[in-house]
Amino acid sequence: MSKLKVLGICGSRRDESVNMKLLRYAGSMVAAEGHDFEIFYFDDFPLPLFDSDEEAKTGIPENVHRLKQAVREADAIILASPEYNGSITPLLKNAIDWVSRTSARLQVTDEWKGKPVGLCSCSPGAMAGLRGLYHVRDIMVECGGLVISEQVSVGKAFEAFNEDGNLVDERTSGFLKAMISKLLEVSQALKKA
Ligand SMILES: Cc1cc2nc3c(=O)[nH]c(=O)nc-3n(C[C@H](O)[C@H](O)[C@H](O)COP(=O)(O)O)c2cc1C
Repeated sequence: MSKLKVLGICGSRRDESVNMKLLRYAGSMVAAEGHDFEIFYFDDFPLPLFDSDEEAKTGIPENVHRLKQAVREADAIILASPEYNGSITPLLKNAIDWVSRTSARLQVTDEWKGKPVGLCSCSPGAMAGLRGLYHVRDIMVECGGLVISEQVSVGKAFEAFNEDGNLVDERTSGFLKAMISKLLEVSQALKKA
């Protein structure tokens, strides 16, 4: 079994983001299986809002290159995101669009193609961000990502974690573990192929 590199991307930059909590918890599960886990922090590497004219004039911004490289080097991706008005957040959509940019002139390719992706969401509301994940799924599939069927949505997010950042509810934690196991299994199989 090879050691895998898993990249986490969060669809929220809020300081106390519950989705970042969920992503870190997912990362701890990946690490517990003996694999590497890293998060791409948009606070450290903010991305400009995509603008075709600007791209044509100035090319691909440095932080976009960083994100594209991180996705390229990863064996699998975990996306954790809230839903905004029942859909994907602008932060995540912008990042997905930038990574999907292909251009022979700018020498960039779409790093999502063939990349295994696992989805999770978190929300203080009862819908748990579930509706947004279906939009994220559609977009990622359109980009050529291999989105696994299993996904996890955590409702009542402000009460969902203990002080150590672990999910309190064992059943939900079990769903997350199952999602991660499948993601790792698919990534291992692709790495071998
Ligand atoms: C513009 C906007 C729209 C939102 N729409 C939804 C929604 O459709 N469903 C939902 O459960 N929560 C919605 N929320 C609330 C977010 O789930 C909540 O702010 C959550 O804490 C965001 O996740 P985060 O803590 O990771 O930033 C919305 C928040 C904003 C700012």
